[in-house]
Amino acid sequence: MEISDHTKNILGLRLPTDPRWVNLTELSLEAILTDHAYCEQKAAVTCISLIQRYADREQLVVQLSPIVTEEWGHFRLVLHELQRRGLKLGRQRKDAYVNRLLAFQQKGGNEEGRLLDQLLTMAMIEARSCERFKRLSEGLTDEYLRNFYRRFMESEAGHYALFIDLAELYISKELVRQRWKEWLEHEVAIMQELEVRGDRIH
Ligand SMILES: [Fe+2]
Ligand SMILES: [Fe+2]
Repeated sequence: MEISDHTKNILGLRLPTDPRWVNLTELSLEAILTDHAYCEQKAAVTCISLIQRYADREQLVVQLSPIVTEEWGHFRLVLHELQRRGLKLGRQRKDAYVNRLLAFQQKGGNEEGRLLDQLLTMAMIEARSCERFKRLSEGLTDEYLRNFYRRFMESEAGHYALFIDLAELYISKELVRQRWKEWLEHEVAIMQELEVRGDRIH
């Protein structure tokens, strides 16, 4: 699978994160780590349901199986970080960003179109998460945390590329590119409407 083609576009997201966000996260570390932990948990669970839903698509099953393990490993890393700091995993909250993305998914129509949107939703979340982790890895005052987030940034960049590659495996490249552009534009609208909060990854 070619990964390098896509990784350069990750930070080609149409709207960079508000620079105030990194400083806000430092004020609510327990909440941001909790939110981050659940992002990882949801990534693992979503990969499992994609495998269940598309069991007949061999490459999807083969490629996503190790991602489940990796995302759950991320959950455990974040949990460990909370414990190390004497902080607690809080409750899961409503994820306005992801809910808005899900609302944009094609619901009816053909199976390919639905599969495409499910893969692009994941690619979108990975790309934005990667961008956010990059901001944290560059802007936090705590050096340990800067390194902590750099690892996530690299990993989610690879996942972003994997979801785009899977889409291109099953759907024509042209259609993937065209729909991805629509997703990028729609994501700008979502980002502009969401409040900048230090207790949310997105
Ligand atoms: Fe992850
Ligand atoms: Fe990921």
